[in-house]
Order: sequence, then structure tokens, then C-alpha cells
Amino acid sequence: MSNNYPIVVYGASGYTGRLIVEFLREYGVPFVAAGRNRARIEEAMRTVPGIEDAQYEIVEVEHSVEALTKLFEGRRVVCNTVGPFTRKAPVVIEAALRAGCHYLDTTGEQASMIDIEAQFGERFEKAGLALVSSLAYMYAVSEITARVCLETEGIDSLDMFAYGVAVPTQASTESIFDVVRNKAHYLADRKLVEYDRFQVSDMQIPGGLVLKGMPWGGTANPVWFRHDPRVRNCRMTVALSNQEIYKRILELARAFKVQLQWIPEDQLIPVLDKMAATMTPSMPPRESRHVHRAIDWCHGRGNNVAASCIIYSTGGYLMTGALQAYAAKQLAYGEPRAVGFKSPSEVFGHRELLGALKAFGLASMSQQHIV
Ligand SMILES: NC(=O)c1ccc[n+]([C@@H]2O[C@H](COP(=O)([O-])OP(=O)(O)OC[C@H]3O[C@@H](n4cnc5c(N)ncnc54)[C@H](OP(=O)(O)O)[C@@H]3O)[C@@H](O)[C@H]2O)c1
Repeated sequence: MSNNYPIVVYGASGYTGRLIVEFLREYGVPFVAAGRNRARIEEAMRTVPGIEDAQYEIVEVEHSVEALTKLFEGRRVVCNTVGPFTRKAPVVIEAALRAGCHYLDTTGEQASMIDIEAQFGERFEKAGLALVSSLAYMYAVSEITARVCLETEGIDSLDMFAYGVAVPTQASTESIFDVVRNKAHYLADRKLVEYDRFQVSDMQIPGGLVLKGMPWGGTANPVWFRHDPRVRNCRMTVALSNQEIYKRILELARAFKVQLQWIPEDQLIPVLDKMAATMTPSMPPRESRHVHRAIDWCHGRGNNVAASCIIYSTGGYLMTGALQAYAAKQLAYGEPRAVGFKSPSEVFGHRELLGALKAFGLASMSQQHIV
């Protein structure tokens, strides 16, 4: 195994891992495609468009701190797509830290981010390494809309929304179901406040459609913006075009309150995974840009100022692949703008991340300085 491969994509056999690899190949950056099963990674690599001229190695590795540290040594950055992250990420992060690598992941789980910051934030900062969670469509794209609003001086409150046509993958469904075990928060007067688990609200989508939305586990944005002195309030609501999904999550939240919460953790997880598998029994097909579209928007308010920003985009998983590959390339050949537990925009710049998506034709933005 050679050290001329600065990036490790861990979970390369998965739906998202193979997309990261695809965009790394577009950037012409060498990488290691790693995971727990060599045969599945080989099979996944065969499906990556253009893989014939990519520079990569495949490595089968056990999901343990020792084995992963050995693999990461001598590399610059780890892209971790092995979720649900609340359960599986700490082992990978510990290994990245021991090996002296920057760490990126695709979690959309707020509880995982709060844990990751508490467990590893200071240690990464001391080591001069970036620890970037949720470098994925959810929630790096919505973060860009908030940061564009914050360019208007005096904005202190962020009302954020996302709407998408999405088919969750196997691990995404497990992650969504995993979220019901944990508390979800929004930011009110600079403090994280717990949501009512059963909260559902009407959400008007740009264009006029009204759908039911929910806090979706709280999202990453309140966690990032609680450290921003400009921001007092931040909350986010998410609606999917498939309105059956929020109903399933509500059913699960009710079942959790009545029954599931009393089951010991080690027995509960297989139950939740089994329920998730009934919703997503196999890997969905590659996204279609003409179908899997999304809109992320933010309305920013201050006393006498207001601004709004909307990003129209396509392919949530494609965008995740592009964002991860862009960020990994930046860290492989350059230095992060910030170290420790930081948001994607803090480490790579919000305009730069948008630029990376635009370069692949995945997103465009409209902004309005209202007053
Ligand atoms: N926030 C966002 O916008 C966003 C976007 C994309 C993905 N994600 C998140 O990223 C995660 C991965 O998603 P995905 O679409 O790639 O799912 P996936 O297609 O189901 O792939 C999961 C990957 O994790 C590996 N894995 C699972 N359990 C493992 C374990 N115990 N040890 C080692 N490897 C293990 C799998 O390996 P095998 O092939 O060997 O089973 C596979 O490579 C999910 O949590 C999802 O929610 C979030």
C-alpha cells in the first residue's frame, strides 16, 4: 500500500462512497477506496463512470480503531460515509485523530454532531486538524443559504427550510430511524432548546405548494450557529415530496414513546434497523437530475433588516459526492481555513462550496437583500 494516496473514502462500497469516488476521479485526485468487504468495494468501483483512468487502491479494513489508524497513517484526509454515525462514527474519528488526518463525514444526525463535538472537538483543534461533520447535501447546502443571509449586517435570526424529492438509501433510512432515539434541538436566544418530538407544521414551498414538514432531528444548522456571535435564533424545517415518509417517522416516534424506549439499546438497534429495511430493502438506483430536485432556503431577520436566499439544486447524493470530493481535494493539497469541530462553510468558505456545486451543474442560487 502506497502513501501517494492522500484521501481515504471509508464506506466506498455504499451509494454515497461511490459518488465521492466518482467526483474525486473528475478532480484527478488519487484515493483509497476502503471498507469492510473487498468484494463489495470491487463491485461498487466497477459501476463508477470513468473509473478506468482513476488512480486508486482498494483496501479491506476492519471497523476498529487499530485497523483504521493503520490505514489512515500517512494520509491527509478521511471521508467517512459509514452511518448511522451516532453508533459508528466515533471509532473512525478516533482513528483519524491518532493518524493525524483531517476528518469529513456525511452525517445528518444532530445528536451525532453534538457528541462528536463534545468528544473530539478540542482534541482535533489541538492537533491542528479539521473535524467536519455533515459535509453533505443535508446540511452543507442549507448552511450556504444562511451564510448568504448573514452577509446582511444585523441579521440575527435564521428561519431555514428544505424541500426535496429523495429516495433514501439503506443507511440513510437507518439513520433517519435512528434519530427517533435522540432529542432534537433548535436554537432560541443562543441556547439549544428541545423540540416536541411530534411537531409537524405546514410549509409553503417556493412556487406555492404547501406540504407538511418536520424538524427532521433538528438538523446541523442550530449546532453550527450556536457558536456564531451574530446568531440568536435558528431553526430548520424539512419536507419531502413523498409525504408518506414523515407519517412513518411520526408512527415510529409514537411507538418509541409507548414501547421502544424501554428496550435495552443493544436489542433496540436491530429492531430499528429491521423497520428501516422494510422501507428501503435494497440500494435505490442512481439519482436522476430531472427527478431528484431540492430547494433549500433561509429567511434572515434582524430588527430592521431582512434577507433571503434560495438554492435550487438537483441530486442530493450527487451533491454530497461533489462536496466531499471538493473538500477532500482542498485538504489533500492545502490547509483548512479553521481547525477543530467546524462547519463545512467555516472550513471551506460558503461561496466556494456553492462554486463547487455550480461547476458540476448541480445548484444555482437566488438571493435578496430585502431591507
Ligand atoms: N446528510 C446527507 O445529505 C447525506 C447524504 C448522503 C449520505 N448520508 C449519510 O451517509 C451514510 C451512508 O449513506 P449511503 O447512502 O452511502 O448508505 P449505503 O449505501 O447503505 O452504504 C453504507 C456503507 O457503510 C458501510 N457499512 C455499514 N455498516 C458498516 C459497519 N458496521 N462497518 C463498516 N462499514 C459499514 C457499508 O458497507 P457494506 O457495503 O460492506 O455493507 C457501505 O459501504 C448514511 O448514514 C446517510 O444518512 C447523508
